[in-house]
Amino acid sequence: MLDHKILYNSESISDEYAKRDYLEGAESAIIKKFGSRFKKMDMLDMGVGGGRTTKYFAPLVKSYIGADYAPNMITRCRVKYRGKYSFMESDVRSMNMFGSNMFDFVLFSYNGIDSFSHEDRFAALKEIKRVLRSNGYLYFSSHNLNWENLSDLFNFKSGGMGTDKKNGSRDFIRLLGSSIKSGFKKLRLNILNRNLRSKDFVQHLKEKQRGLIYDNSLNGKASVYYITRAEQIRQLEDAGFKNITTYSRNGTNTGNEEKLNEDGWIYYLCEADK
Ligand SMILES: C[S@@+](CC[C@H](N)C(=O)[O-])C[C@H]1O[C@@H](n2cnc3c(N)ncnc32)[C@H](O)[C@@H]1O
Repeated sequence: MLDHKILYNSESISDEYAKRDYLEGAESAIIKKFGSRFKKMDMLDMGVGGGRTTKYFAPLVKSYIGADYAPNMITRCRVKYRGKYSFMESDVRSMNMFGSNMFDFVLFSYNGIDSFSHEDRFAALKEIKRVLRSNGYLYFSSHNLNWENLSDLFNFKSGGMGTDKKNGSRDFIRLLGSSIKSGFKKLRLNILNRNLRSKDFVQHLKEKQRGLIYDNSLNGKASVYYITRAEQIRQLEDAGFKNITTYSRNGTNTGNEEKLNEDGWIYYLCEADK
């Protein structure tokens, strides 16, 4: 399987990210929460990709740096914002160019933190804590291992062909085509995840509370980290973060697991305890 950096740095994936222009509900929620407090904050937008979040956050904060380890993403950002904001190549696991206590707010949105191993995740959290000022904020999203529809990605019985008596034969053919396509996708994901083969491998991961899964991210070419909310909170505390709260993808600030598990991702807001 391919390295994440090679995939993110490819022309096609960086072009695709550079086209994105919207804001996630959870990102709008944090903008609303911080409001005019952003004016006094130095912000690092880590894993900035093609600069999707830049136009929303950069004008609000005192200073803004977008960073990414994929040089092609940084090039896309520089072209898109034509020198207006600062963009730098940097790997979150070792941010040598940034001194300690430089930022008040680090954003690592859209699950960039799920691109590496368990050990590297801890290194990344420690590095983020280092560059944050005392009580500085980290806001990031991560794949939710307790997502209620996770098993459906691999389960041949789910999402099968529906029948609708009102539809004619053309719709039947369309449905048949999409069912075959979805069947192949699931077969591929089952093969890719074969190292986890057990009667119910999602259950197996859930017992561990974290693990790498091949899902449809990056076209199934690299695995991504999934984690339960409880385990993520434990990891953040171990890495030196406090006041941890969670947001659903649509921006609801809640600790209600049932509500959070409706989404494939959870957003975490926490503060550097130093
Ligand atoms: C899913 S994309 C999200 C991009 C952007 N934040 C957005 O929301 O559109 C994840 C980004 O994280 C970057 N990334 C992954 N691992 C990284 C690392 N170790 N250091 C810096 N950036 C990383 C990737 O290059 C990619 O641009």
